[in-house]
Amino acid sequence: MNNFKRYLVTSALPYANGPVHIGHLAGVYIPSDIYVRYLRLRKRDVIWVCGSDEHGVPITLKAKKENKTPQQVVDLYHGIIKKSFEDFGISFDIYSRTSSKIHYETASEIFRTIYDKNGFIEKTTEQYFDPEANQFLPDRYITGTCPHCGDERAYGDQCEKCGTSLSATDLINPKSTISGAKPILKSTNHWFLPLDTYEPFLRKWILEEHKEWKSNVYGQCKSWIDQGLQPRAVSRDLDWGVPVPVANADGKVLYVWFDAPIGYISATKELTPDWEKYWKDKETKLVHFIGKDNIVFHCIIFPCMLQAEGSFILPENVPANEFLNLESDKISTSRNWAVWLHEYLEEFKDKQDVLRYVLTANMPEAKDNDFTWKDFQARNNNELVAILGNFINRTLVLTDKYFDGIVPEKANLKPEDEEVLNQIPALKANVEKSIETFRFREALKEAMNLARIGNKYLADTEPWIVYKTNPERVKTILAVSLDITAALSIILEPFLPFSCNKIRKFLNIEKLAWDELNSGKYFEAGHKIGKAELLFGKIEDEQIEFQVTKLLNTKKENEKTVSFEPVKAEISYEEFQKMDIRTGIILEAEKVPKTAKLLKLLIDTGVDKRVVVSGIAESYSPENIIGQKVSILLNLAPRKIKGIESNGMILMAENSEGKLCFVAPVDDFGGGAGIK
Ligand code: MF3
Ligand code: ZN
Repeated sequence: MNNFKRYLVTSALPYANGPVHIGHLAGVYIPSDIYVRYLRLRKRDVIWVCGSDEHGVPITLKAKKENKTPQQVVDLYHGIIKKSFEDFGISFDIYSRTSSKIHYETASEIFRTIYDKNGFIEKTTEQYFDPEANQFLPDRYITGTCPHCGDERAYGDQCEKCGTSLSATDLINPKSTISGAKPILKSTNHWFLPLDTYEPFLRKWILEEHKEWKSNVYGQCKSWIDQGLQPRAVSRDLDWGVPVPVANADGKVLYVWFDAPIGYISATKELTPDWEKYWKDKETKLVHFIGKDNIVFHCIIFPCMLQAEGSFILPENVPANEFLNLESDKISTSRNWAVWLHEYLEEFKDKQDVLRYVLTANMPEAKDNDFTWKDFQARNNNELVAILGNFINRTLVLTDKYFDGIVPEKANLKPEDEEVLNQIPALKANVEKSIETFRFREALKEAMNLARIGNKYLADTEPWIVYKTNPERVKTILAVSLDITAALSIILEPFLPFSCNKIRKFLNIEKLAWDELNSGKYFEAGHKIGKAELLFGKIEDEQIEFQVTKLLNTKKENEKTVSFEPVKAEISYEEFQKMDIRTGIILEAEKVPKTAKLLKLLIDTGVDKRVVVSGIAESYSPENIIGQKVSILLNLAPRKIKGIESNGMILMAENSEGKLCFVAPVDDFGGGAGIK
């Protein structure tokens, strides 16, 4: 460890527009929880802050969609997220929120300080505006085709497909998310942080002084800096957010990416009156845990804000993970393609550590990774149950059986006993090194090796056989095994806190500190251990099938909704008016011979009675539609179909599965009424 006096750890504030899923956990919250639990075990002075990100377009869009106010949306999800984190054992020192008063004050103050130092440029620019909804369209209020990859669902601030950060005016065929309208440009006034003037600072601070950052993080920073930084707007024309705290800024709020990271500061303020010690003293090590889509905001924009303000420290490291996929498909809140934490906690009661284990073992540290339910089951059954649980269970059951649960004397250690115990310091050092360099998969693997070593030790020494001839020797074997069990309760604590708590109960010991891993003295001979229970249960096929079916159903739902035709090209009202559509009634219907689809209909159109050939025979039989109300396009040029002249066309709706239904007046309206 280095010479920092204290640690301040932050985890990306999740948007309060939906619950937390396994992607968030594997990307941000589990790695940071491991890191912080480890630091606490090492008795470091550390605080860990997080909270809900409650501003920005993701929130207002969700509110609009659900017919709620933004405050109602964030209240709902803040509650769900906070509770599920707690139940999952994510051990923040504080989980705050950015709609709190203290946050508004802190964010305003920081903006104001930079403003007063002339740290912003004020500029009038043209921004997209929705003339129908009568509002500006920042960020996600606008979608269109990405100029880089051609994806049609790019947002005004970013293309999620190729990850490029965009300006709304870069989009091809921009459309308002609110009304679908084509936006117009309108001029408006905003404050910009001149990132370009920070280039020398960023080059030195990141590219020269932080070469140790993870290569994905360092690489993204380098490419941003090399591409040339531009002034970045830090305000928006919106009515949800922290109001811009200067005169003549009505209707303007701080950009969500300006206020959200300040949330780390306001959460610390809320937690402790000592907050400045953590934010303003160079002896604090500040670490931001984030997902890869947050890199530029935490490595470039937020540090520039802090520099502009002038009194804050900068992060020492910004460990960002890549993305976790689910069953080979990108996790998506809007497509409901996710394993939701609050649902997992309901469906897998008391199995927090299983998910923590699987997500750590598969953590997308260097590249995107995949979560599958089969792997979840296999890792539980073959690793947690068969290796860790099995070792601990055998040790405890044998101690109970042979020595009434009393820790026996460890005497006359043989080389094989020494060898096992002597591996602990090396494992400890490896886990330390891995955690401190943010390689949590490796750290977990190494910690689990202690259980593997224990299992092998029991298999080699066979106490259940030796007991018949040499019970004295079994005393030592079990004393060594109990030492390993106690050591496991320390070395696994950052990863599997619930299970380590149970192990300590089984052993009837208090929580031990990290450095006691080296002591080799976890309890005295004669100590009475507690009652053993199973540490992990097998996960059965039915539970996995249930989850897989749930996902298959989501997939089906999604296929239904996405297969509609895209909206056709625009037409004028004049063009629409050229169509003469009227109400009508079917008088006669018969099948057109030698065809499967066609019916010949006689329609009373109010103005005349005419024959129409219609392709509806697979959906309707002739005898059932006599008297059916319809809408008919009268002025369609006549066409010969299978030798029959068809004069017009009746209107049908067709859903994504090809099912048809009549589009007709609801009331009894007779024929001939114009449809407009
Ligand atoms: N809400 C953002 C996201 O989910 C993260 C915000 S992190 C903070 O991507 F730094 F801005 F707080
Ligand atoms: Zn793109």
